[in-house]
Amino acid sequence: MTQKEQKQKLLEKLYVPYKKHKDCPLGPLCKSTAVFGEGNANAKLMFIGEAPGAKEEELGRPFVGRSGKLLDKILAAYDTNREDVYITNIVKCRPPKNRTPTKKEINACKDLLHNQIKIIKPKVMCTLGASALEGLTGKPVKITKVRGIPTKHKDVILLPAYHPAYILRNPKQLEFLMADIREAIELSKKQQLKHN
Ligand code: URA
Repeated sequence: MTQKEQKQKLLEKLYVPYKKHKDCPLGPLCKSTAVFGEGNANAKLMFIGEAPGAKEEELGRPFVGRSGKLLDKILAAYDTNREDVYITNIVKCRPPKNRTPTKKEINACKDLLHNQIKIIKPKVMCTLGASALEGLTGKPVKITKVRGIPTKHKDVILLPAYHPAYILRNPKQLEFLMADIREAIELSKKQQLKHN
């Protein structure tokens, strides 16, 4: 079995109890279908969004609505596709009316995200939007100040970027999201070379 297959199996095993919200502290409070993530289980680059929306909940896949289409287009511009990276969210269930996830919801999904990171072992994590960055680091941020600046989070390079949904509302900012995603891809390739 390849390392990618081994990691995929571990991820699938990790997700099983959560499918019935069994290990979720929110338990029956969390009614929607969980969207765990998808892509290459051995990816060097992991994208972390906020939470699934309606389309994601319907299809059980992350970033498949309008924001996801934009993400796919930007990845394609840099010869990258969804199978090269892993895509997930801070919170795995859709918050009612797409509101920002609460601290309680973020905490409920925290172990799951950390276990995903432990299994995948990405070299670079690119958070999409302020809420994803705050969810990961637990600290309030001003995304306009920190986007595009790589730091470390538990030994993994962390590159914050704007959320594609923000870019759909503010298309003039597209160049920033594109630059940050390109940087995340390049950093992940450089890190891969270092370890080969
Ligand atoms: N927005 C997110 O943050 N995540 C998704 O999966 C879709 C839209």
